[in-house]
Amino acid sequence: MAWFNKRQAQPSLPRGRRSLPLLGQTLAFHGQAHDEVCSLVHDVNCSTVRLSVLARDVALITSYDDALQVLDQPWSPSEKETSRTKAYEQLMAAFFSPPNLLLEDEDEEEAKEHRQAWDACMNPSPDGAQRAASSIVADWTANLAKQNEVDIYEACKSLGQSLALGTFLGLARGTTEFDEAQAWSEDMLRGQFSLPVGFKTPLYQNAFSRGQDAKRRFDAMVQQRMAAGSCPFSERAKDTGIADASNASHHAMFSSNLVVKAFASLAAALVLQLYRQQPGQATLAERIRSLATDEAEGVISAVVTETERVSPPIIGVMRTVVKDEGLSLHRAGVCIPRGWDAWPYLPLANRDEAAFGPDAACFRWDRYRNGKGSHDGCKQPLTFGAGVKPCGGSAIIRSWLRGVAMRLISTRISLNFAEEDLGAGVQDWLGWYDQPSNAGKRATWRGSVKQLPTQRPHKGILVVIAES
Ligand code: HEM
Repeated sequence: MAWFNKRQAQPSLPRGRRSLPLLGQTLAFHGQAHDEVCSLVHDVNCSTVRLSVLARDVALITSYDDALQVLDQPWSPSEKETSRTKAYEQLMAAFFSPPNLLLEDEDEEEAKEHRQAWDACMNPSPDGAQRAASSIVADWTANLAKQNEVDIYEACKSLGQSLALGTFLGLARGTTEFDEAQAWSEDMLRGQFSLPVGFKTPLYQNAFSRGQDAKRRFDAMVQQRMAAGSCPFSERAKDTGIADASNASHHAMFSSNLVVKAFASLAAALVLQLYRQQPGQATLAERIRSLATDEAEGVISAVVTETERVSPPIIGVMRTVVKDEGLSLHRAGVCIPRGWDAWPYLPLANRDEAAFGPDAACFRWDRYRNGKGSHDGCKQPLTFGAGVKPCGGSAIIRSWLRGVAMRLISTRISLNFAEEDLGAGVQDWLGWYDQPSNAGKRATWRGSVKQLPTQRPHKGILVVIAES
């Protein structure tokens, strides 16, 4: 009856498919929803579609402007339309425990101060963190140059582990503590993306319960290292006035496997963009190598932003509508009822032709390179969220990515792969198709791009390394 009432109250939301298993009723979270979402948007001819995910009523938002409206909530409680706390407490809080910015709504008491304290600590990306990262990236690149062939995503994941565990927990690869932390972190992510019910017998433990055990160990290790002064970044946070509980819970999140995998996804896409061979053209890496440092940095920055736009590693964010009248989306012209989830779907919002023009689905290395490298005139991708509470770590991730690009380009190696071996879906994920993004004309992502917990090519992409 409740379901019937909701539909009566808001007949304007297109029906979509209530049975579409975006994340899977079976909680097989490694789903590939993209093709389904594209065809659904096409079928109902509306950028917001209705889904049932884990028995929740979800409105999936694929228009850039509407996604921005959902993300850009005011600090003031009276104007609040959506809540992140309500959406995340079921699916996130068990692994990213409070106090945590991610779980706090904009209008919550003290949320603003909490956010500002962390901003002071993380933006711009601190020098110390950058120095540590640059030596990790240098070692990684030197090691890469000695290999004949690598799976580029796996190589980037290994770098992401070294960067996250090194920067935030002061752990070095090759130590027992590093291996333990990494193993717990993997168990935690598996638990986070599994049925949220613990089950444990002397002979069997399900993924959620194993993840919870791993979280207890990981949290204890973080607290111990912070107390021993082994986490330089946490010392900085303490100096900025961050309380110990917040410091510990955020350090656990910053060094999590979700961050590692999201970084790996972006870094792998970036490397593929830089070393793509096109007939009659030098690779982007070769062209950048011939530029003066300032100019090279500007181009790399533009390439990083465009990579973020076409290949966002995290497919969406979650909100629940809390406004009594519902949430009216201007672009889609629909109203999402109170109590429903409103989830921006970033792979399509970032490729919305209304926001980015007819070539929105294509990777254009110079899209963010207006004249002197300014980003004016082109909307920013939603990959790191938006509004007053975007991702707190975006400056750090971008500095890591720029560092990887600079170091690789200045190392005299070439990374070679056959474009056709990547498959049509992966090429589409990278924005290598020139046709507009009309639904129905897209290459299928099924079987080629894994979307959860982060987007990445399904099969390994072997890259052959040679001197250049
Ligand atoms: C490629 C890696 C990453 C991606 C794609 C990413 C993406 C995001 C997104 C989309 C959000 C917004 C969630 C929402 O609005 O519901 C977010 C929030 C957040 N991220 Fe990241 N993130 C990454 C890495 C990091 C790192 C390395 C850190 C910390 C050093 C970090 C810290 C945070 C924090 C603190 C928030 C919550 C901000 C707030 O609500 O005030 N993230 N991230």
